[in-house]
Amino acid sequence: MSAPPNNSAAHVEQSGASDESLQAVHAALLHHNPEPREGYSLLPLGVLGFMSTMIFVCCIYFVHNRGGFNPLVTDGRLNPSSGPVETKLTDAQIVKKGQSLFNQTCIQCHQATGLGVAGAYPPLAGSDWVNGGEERLIRIVLDGLKDPVTVSGAQFSSSNKMPNFSAIPGTEFAYNWNDDKISYVLSYVRQEWGNKAPIVTGDAVKAIHALPGVADRKTPWTQAELLAIPVAPPAPAAATPPAAAVPAGK
Ligand code: HEC
Repeated sequence: MSAPPNNSAAHVEQSGASDESLQAVHAALLHHNPEPREGYSLLPLGVLGFMSTMIFVCCIYFVHNRGGFNPLVTDGRLNPSSGPVETKLTDAQIVKKGQSLFNQTCIQCHQATGLGVAGAYPPLAGSDWVNGGEERLIRIVLDGLKDPVTVSGAQFSSSNKMPNFSAIPGTEFAYNWNDDKISYVLSYVRQEWGNKAPIVTGDAVKAIHALPGVADRKTPWTQAELLAIPVAPPAPAAATPPAAAVPAGK
């Protein structure tokens, strides 16, 4: 009796193992990517990183191109019918704002004492430029000052320039202050370190800034140019600050 029991099964196994195409299919199946699963899976980190970068870049873009959008319009305390907030500032508030502007910028050269640095930066404390007529002073901060200058009788000379604080494209300094900011800082330096000159209003700075020769000015002033400008109120006017300050403060 020759009847081999599982002959057919052994035959199939044997032929499978020797079939190259089947082996190739098995190999492919074994190295296959994981099957897609149903349900939630984390975004690939690369995509996440890319999207975050895009959102970040877009925010920067919006901040830089907000087209003069004034954040004050979202301030509930601002009543649009009452005009700009600035007009409501008291003299003390103006001087306070000026102090903070001074401490951010002017202080690095003219120092907290207002005495400057000998041979490098002239003093503002007791300076006849600071305490004299406001027009020359306004011009100095709008457009800057270069070449030797005599401050309160003492000749001052250094290779440093006083920067322009108004926006003048193409200059090495880019403070880009508006006229109100300039008036705040000037009001402060005229009241600090024993200086006793009246505050400077934003309107006064605007008026000087709009003059021909000032509006289009692109280089710092020289002392000679400034001295050629007549000082409107004579020196004694500085001795009566309240009279000038009252209409100025509105
Ligand atoms: C980068 C340094 C620097 C900064 C910042 C600076 N100044 Fe000056 N400032 C000078 C120099 C230098 C001179 C003298 C220029 C010259 O010799 O012609 C000067 C001159 C002046 C003068 C006329 C001379 C005097 O002593 O009275 C005034 C006023 C003045 N600065 C005010 C200011 C105010 C206000 C600020 C801030 C808004 C300011 N400066 C910021 C360097 C600076």
